[in-house]
Amino acid sequence: MDDDELERLLRNERYPRSGKYSARWMVDNSMGPNPVWQAEALSELMALETGMRVLDMGCGTALSSVFLAKEFDVEVWATDLWVKPEENWRRVIEADVKDQVHPIHAEAHALPFAEDFFDAVVSIGAYHYFGTDDLYLGYFSRFVKPGGQIGIVLPGSTEEPERLPPPHLEAFWKWDFCAWHSPAWWQQHWEKTGMVTVEVADRLPHGWQDWLQWNEVCDEDGGTPGREEALMLRADGGRTLGLTRVIARRNN
Ligand SMILES: C[S@@+](CC[C@H](N)C(=O)[O-])C[C@H]1O[C@@H](n2cnc3c(N)ncnc32)[C@H](O)[C@@H]1O
Repeated sequence: MDDDELERLLRNERYPRSGKYSARWMVDNSMGPNPVWQAEALSELMALETGMRVLDMGCGTALSSVFLAKEFDVEVWATDLWVKPEENWRRVIEADVKDQVHPIHAEAHALPFAEDFFDAVVSIGAYHYFGTDDLYLGYFSRFVKPGGQIGIVLPGSTEEPERLPPPHLEAFWKWDFCAWHSPAWWQQHWEKTGMVTVEVADRLPHGWQDWLQWNEVCDEDGGTPGREEALMLRADGGRTLGLTRVIARRNN
């Protein structure tokens, strides 16, 4: 697919800031539902101000880190396990934000940062890989200063299904989708620790449609239309699946 066509198919009026970034750049560095759209959705409800220090945890290819640095003039520690920091550094240089985005290789339980260092923390499409443990937030939240915000977006369900897999998704289900929790689940999971106050726990408005649009265009562009995740999202039609957004503030 040529770049103009890709640009046209990925136009999404819900994300005007993201519209300034090349669709080809987003698709070629994709690891899941578009992190730039998700970063924009988080940023609408988080207070990001010039010069803030931001941790982007599980940043993957650091697209969200580049977006936040450029859009909000913040400094971002783009932290990830699977993607090599050298690869992210190349992307950071190409995006012309080398003074603002710092690629870090780290495992989520062994973070090389000082306590209280960050003004804000974000995590997109990643927190469910390491954050469903009851005790994790107590560790993770110490890296943001008291009063600072932690915002995550990740695949999730409307409510906790009575049984897994939900019958209408049986044909598509993979065991690890059991970590795709509802906004209410995350709110309770975080608040029970007493470490944070949850300010937002919702589903991204039109999140499942954004996710489906993204997957269908990526599948088409990759020459493999109709891959399983898109079929699953289409079959579900937003009944169960979507993108969960949670934003909390660290208590003092
Ligand atoms: C599906 S990718 C999403 C990446 C990116 N945020 C995005 O939305 O495109 C999940 C990311 O979580 C990171 N991750 C998973 N487990 C992790 C862990 N234990 N410690 C640090 N990062 C982890 C992986 O390195 C991976 O890049």
